Amino acid sequence: MNNIPMKTRSLKLLEFLSLEKSADRLLALEVPKDALSWTRFCGALLLVLVVLLFLSGIFMAFYYSPIPGTAYDSVDFALFNVPFGSVVKGVHHYSWNLLLMVMGVHLGRSLILGSYKAPRQMVWVTGVIILLFVPLFIITGDLLPWDQKGYWSTQVRLSIISSVPGMGHIAARLLQGGSLTGVVALTRFYVLHILMLPGLLVLLIAVHFHFIRHRGLSEPLGADPVSRPRIPFYPNVVNRWLFLFIMVSIILGVISWHWIPPFGDPADPTDSSYIPKPEWWVLFLNQLVSVFKGGLAVLGSTIIPAGLAGLLICLPFIDRSPHRHPARRWKILLPAAAIVIAILTLSIMGYMEHFVLVEN
Ligand code: HEM
Repeated sequence: MNNIPMKTRSLKLLEFLSLEKSADRLLALEVPKDALSWTRFCGALLLVLVVLLFLSGIFMAFYYSPIPGTAYDSVDFALFNVPFGSVVKGVHHYSWNLLLMVMGVHLGRSLILGSYKAPRQMVWVTGVIILLFVPLFIITGDLLPWDQKGYWSTQVRLSIISSVPGMGHIAARLLQGGSLTGVVALTRFYVLHILMLPGLLVLLIAVHFHFIRHRGLSEPLGADPVSRPRIPFYPNVVNRWLFLFIMVSIILGVISWHWIPPFGDPADPTDSSYIPKPEWWVLFLNQLVSVFKGGLAVLGSTIIPAGLAGLLICLPFIDRSPHRHPARRWKILLPAAAIVIAILTLSIMGYMEHFVLVEN
């Protein structure tokens, strides 16, 4: 047995598993050399962060107990008594924060360089769906530690969901499993967070990659598509991804070691004086909701966010010109820049209101 060369052994194993044809296809796969360029760093980084979220999440699930009476203590135990528990929880916490930021940069790059244009419309559409989908993880995950911030943030979110005309009230009742946030709500949030949403995210990422593979990566601006050099996907790209995985794990591990992720007091559903501070990524939405009052509230809670999401999804079908150079696309890039500035302004206003003025 030991005399059989390594290569023959792995070939035999692949044949035993009927995977030899898939392995051949992977080995024959080629991608443009610019797939390794640093401007494409964000796509690979997103993949690495998703893997880290899954791995750290599985580890935390070993210790977590989804019942209001024990959830807080189980998280407390994993955080302070399990070896490296705080590092793992930190990696989970910092990964999703970074995921949101990197998704913004990845989207911005595709927007500025026009890589959403034909034939890559569906790469963009699946990307936007992923972007709109990711906050559901945060909304469901926030309640799980059963601390004051998670509990009261959930109350605020449920009341915003309820205010959405039409299905809002039913959606909030369905999420909560009744009129109160208790054991049924926690079980539902848990099942969504660890089972349904991850399953759907894997599916969405697979569809994103399916379109990238079949529609190809956009050419660098000004490059000649005919003489575009190609490299093997395995090992060149796979090795780059593995290297990135190791580096990001080390960096986030060290950060988590030094800055333990936030974990507040246990939830007290009778303490309605607790006012949760909104997360950075939701500041602009919060501000939008508070700008429009009374009969106009629906503008901030539903019409404007839904309109922006619709515009983002439909962008490749609105901007059909063949030009990709930013200088020839100012009719798209100027309004996009105005929207980004509005989002940043609202976020700064929200930050001032909730973090600076409150403390003074
Ligand atoms: C977890 C989320 C995501 C993952 C893992 C992911 C992964 C990737 C990867 C690996 C690539 C190829 C390399 C590159 O160009 O960077 C790519 C390309 C692309 N992604 Fe994503 N992506 C995600 C989310 C998004 C989002 C939110 C958008 C935008 C709405 C988006 C739009 C695109 C586009 C348009 C391309 C093609 C770029 C080109 O051809 O130049 N993706 N994605």
